[in-house]
Amino acid sequence: MSTTERTDATLREIPGDAGLPVIGYTLQFATGRMTADRRRYDKYGPVSWMKAFGKTWVSAQGPDACGEVLRNRDHAFDSGPGWSFFIGPFFRRGLMLLDGGEHHRHRRIMQEAFTSQRLAGYLDPLNETVAAGLANWPSSGRLDFYPAIKQLTLDVATRTFMGVRADAEADRVNGAFVDCVRAATAAVRLPVPGLRWNKGLVGRRTLERYLRPQLVAKRDGDGTDLFSALCHARGEDGEAFSDDDVVNHMIFLLMAAHDTSTITLTSMAYYLAKHPEWQDRCREESLALGTDTVPYDRLDELVSLDLVMKEAMRLVVPVPGVARRTSKDTELCGFRVPANTMISAHLWSVHHLEEYWPDPERFDPGRFAEDRREDKSHRYAFMPFGNGVHKCIGMYFGGMEIKAAMHQILQRYRLSVPTAYTMPVDWTSLPRPRDGLPLTLYRL
Ligand code: HEM
Repeated sequence: MSTTERTDATLREIPGDAGLPVIGYTLQFATGRMTADRRRYDKYGPVSWMKAFGKTWVSAQGPDACGEVLRNRDHAFDSGPGWSFFIGPFFRRGLMLLDGGEHHRHRRIMQEAFTSQRLAGYLDPLNETVAAGLANWPSSGRLDFYPAIKQLTLDVATRTFMGVRADAEADRVNGAFVDCVRAATAAVRLPVPGLRWNKGLVGRRTLERYLRPQLVAKRDGDGTDLFSALCHARGEDGEAFSDDDVVNHMIFLLMAAHDTSTITLTSMAYYLAKHPEWQDRCREESLALGTDTVPYDRLDELVSLDLVMKEAMRLVVPVPGVARRTSKDTELCGFRVPANTMISAHLWSVHHLEEYWPDPERFDPGRFAEDRREDKSHRYAFMPFGNGVHKCIGMYFGGMEIKAAMHQILQRYRLSVPTAYTMPVDWTSLPRPRDGLPLTLYRL
């Protein structure tokens, strides 16, 4: 029901508090200390307000509130102005930063780059790149998994997105991405040399300088990479992306694909090392396929790996929160929300409430199995890829990349961590292990 259909009298005032004088909750927000934490939900319930970064924020927590924000039935929760606050200067005009008719048009064109036929085409170079990357891993012994897999997913992206093999330049591009993503939650949002925000701006220029000179060749060629696909994609009425659109979308896609897949593979490796029974089960299924690399039409046979992937994304939510801003007065779960309010939809909380997920901190992939389906306990109980019109367009690409890479890793190695080890997660911007996830590898 939209606000116009409800009398103001029926809407309640949002509970909350400003936090510390002047800075409010800025530090907790910027350092990710409010992310893996349900205290605000326990104190105020699903909708509460606070101050951070000099603004009033409404925090939506749990499946009802986050579901309402993401479904956006009243067309009041805009993604562009919400996300722009964090990542606008670095990822401007990426798909997630567009709204309304413009977003719809761009999404329709971009969809062409994500058809099953296109996905199947990306898988061969993807498998090849993973195999080449793994050949450089130690045959056994200690490996800091996070930086190693981050390099691997970057190599996959440069190959499948741009059609080029990993080279020295890839390191520079990797650094530029990291700077852009980490700038998103900078507490000091000014271009001061050496500080996070400025590094993000420099990172953006590096990425543009890397992509723009390649446009002409991509438009003229018949490459099967994502860059070429965006150059050639056409909407229903034949509309195409301009050169600027292609560069903007590429920069956003590289970012969107890279860190999310990296953290998902990292948390899967962690849980598989912690739970050898699941590791064995996944490996048996991989071996049963009888191929070193998984073909597109056999991805669905990796059933246990799919359960583990879902459980890893539930626990270490790759995108733990999404941003919106209200374009008009509206309501959220019966609370009045004025126009121009910043909204943070806290997806972490959606996956960690025991009302929907019994024993929520326990690693238990079986909760996604057909006989349990805890993800169906609420319509919006499980949203690692979001929901509504901005739902991840790379969901199948991401799942394919993650399973294809883990399929090769598990056939090659047994992964191990000491029994007492717990992965320390840094929730600043997107999650990552503070210690790089030191694993012991045993070559099979
Ligand atoms: C495990 C992997 C991934 C996760 C968990 C993930 C998560 C998400 C989430 C939560 C959103 C919604 C954000 C919002 O509503 O504000 C999103 C949007 C998006 N993702 Fe992903 N993503 C993943 C992989 C990828 C990949 C591989 C690509 C591209 C190849 C991609 C491209 C995008 C794009 C373009 C959007 C914006 C869609 C739109 O606004 O219409 N993502 N992703």
